Amino acid sequence: MPISTEEFNLLRDFIIKHSEIDVKPEKTYLLESRLTRMMVEMGATNFKEFYLNAQKDTSGKLRERIIDAMTTNETFWFRDSKPWSLMKETILPQLIELIRTRAKTRIRIWSAACSTGQEPYSIAMLLDDYISTKHPAGVSMDNFEILATDISPSVLFLANSGRYNQLAMSRGLSEEFKTKYFNTNGKIWEVSPALKKRITFKKFNLQDHPSALGSFEFILCRNVAIYFSDAFKKELFKRIHSVLNPPGFFLLGASESLVGYSSDFDLVEGQGAIFYKKK
Ligand SMILES: C[S@@+](CC[C@H](N)C(=O)[O-])C[C@H]1O[C@@H](n2cnc3c(N)ncnc32)[C@H](O)[C@@H]1O
Repeated sequence: MPISTEEFNLLRDFIIKHSEIDVKPEKTYLLESRLTRMMVEMGATNFKEFYLNAQKDTSGKLRERIIDAMTTNETFWFRDSKPWSLMKETILPQLIELIRTRAKTRIRIWSAACSTGQEPYSIAMLLDDYISTKHPAGVSMDNFEILATDISPSVLFLANSGRYNQLAMSRGLSEEFKTKYFNTNGKIWEVSPALKKRITFKKFNLQDHPSALGSFEFILCRNVAIYFSDAFKKELFKRIHSVLNPPGFFLLGASESLVGYSSDFDLVEGQGAIFYKKK
């Protein structure tokens, strides 16, 4: 039975309440297609009954499955390429310089919606490649901590496994990095243990204040705020600002911008891309 407007609105509000993901009415089909199977599996005969079950479920398991199903997890290695050139030429050298000059002993980087892990592993590869080829004095990967979080347990499981199929590997990764940082049996590629140990994966809902995670010198929050309301985007960028330490680098997705949401950052351009810096 197709979803009614009342049922759509109940589920839309439920999903916003628990994740901030706002499924617009024109995307009704998305909600319906992603939740129908779960509804049938549960033995519910319509979406209202399914919603009421989710409301009643004190274990939170059904809620978690619904939110997981409603996340969009598209990602790939070095996504959009230009911001990664910018990172290589501008952001990472400045962070490394802070360690080299002993201005800091530890740099914390946060990938705030890491999906299946390509984003944090791309950071780790870029950083490791930089350090292992340029040998900045007194700087090693031990000076860097990469925290990668997401709301979805299923993508975190994959990210944490560090295992990718041929299709995932064909999206954005150079042959050089594939050889340098992965082991393969011909079908599955696995991130090398040395690189994997550089990243901590953790479940984290961006609805919660990130101060629970500590503070960071560099935050990537890419291609996730697009799913949130304007009001929550403002709040999220305010919170991100509050957990950024100097030099306070902040990167959004290539099609995203802070215009209209935050004036707490300076915009910096380079390599055909932009990043933000805490004022
Ligand atoms: C399109 S992916 C972006 C992945 C990566 N940052 C990139 O740009 O390639 C969006 C991710 O945001 C996550 N997400 C959505 N709502 C979230 C929330 N409230 N808290 C944390 N992560 C969330 C989804 O699970 C999904 O993996």
